[in-house]
Amino acid sequence: MEEKKILYSAIQPTNNLTIGNYLGAIKNWLGLQNDYECYFAIANMHAITVRQNPAELRQKTLSLLALYLACGLDAEKCCLYIQSHVPAHAELCWVLNTITYVGEMSRMTQFKDKSARHAENVNMGLMDYPVLMAADILLYQADYVPVGEDQRQHLEIARDIARRFNTVYSPTFKEPEGLFMKVGAKINDLQDPSKKMSKSAENPNGSIFLSDGKDEIIRKFRRAVTDSEAEVRYDPEAKPGVSNLLSIYSLFSGKSIEEAEREFAGRGYGEFKLAVGEAVAAKLEPVQREQQRLIADKDYLNGLLKRNAERAAFKAERTLGKVYKKIGFYQI
Ligand code: TRP
Repeated sequence: MEEKKILYSAIQPTNNLTIGNYLGAIKNWLGLQNDYECYFAIANMHAITVRQNPAELRQKTLSLLALYLACGLDAEKCCLYIQSHVPAHAELCWVLNTITYVGEMSRMTQFKDKSARHAENVNMGLMDYPVLMAADILLYQADYVPVGEDQRQHLEIARDIARRFNTVYSPTFKEPEGLFMKVGAKINDLQDPSKKMSKSAENPNGSIFLSDGKDEIIRKFRRAVTDSEAEVRYDPEAKPGVSNLLSIYSLFSGKSIEEAEREFAGRGYGEFKLAVGEAVAAKLEPVQREQQRLIADKDYLNGLLKRNAERAAFKAERTLGKVYKKIGFYQI
């Protein structure tokens, strides 16, 4: 049997995920889990680079695991685990720190953004974020890393670090390739359709969170910014609001944009927005129900986490062992 290629990705268990995150990340992973050896982590070590409430962090960690499963990631096929359960992440990060330059980290776009947003807490971890992410990926010898556009620079750095280590010592790490997911990137803010829908938008009415209930979803779509015409037509330049709603409708109903345009021809925006809200709620409700059911089954989740932490650690420690040997750490 041909060995499967390795795929690695992770999500931070912090902010509420939006439907854009779902379409851009987890939904795409579903299609990959059969063809690759997949590791999907919950990046709680990355999460603490900005201040977290400990009780919330704990709860959101489990809730993200339940979401992975509720969305359809198969616990038999993918290794779903919590980053902090595998000490090798921190250990490799330390080694990689010694071949990463302060200058290159201080120039990273996300570091500059986050330092500006959290000026009171520009901690070393924030600056080290990309190195920890490189350690995540390189430990598993990942061939592919599915991520959003916003992670492109982080992935480039991971490749640079891998290459540098391989050159200074000897070939050790695989150079991972990014799989940049396109769908979902197209989902924009409901209140400001010129911006991408974001989990940290100023106005929470512009984002649909995966945790939003049906009434909330319908209320947000009802308030979505459109235009002064009354025609449901796809034209992102002239009609960014309506076009965004059409994209969302199409992604959640499985109908094409053209079909959707025909369906709402001659009907008002009110009816259209309601239909979009209902289509989204219909998809999210069963996922939320399953997520709640899983969260209540802590024994099952804990058992799964324990097995997967061991499986992940086994793989990670092989790489770490090689690294320690090459850099001259005395081994017994
Ligand atoms: N930084 C990523 C994000 O915020 C999350 C992440 C952490 C990640 N480690 C990773 C993604 C390793 C891919 C691979 O989206």
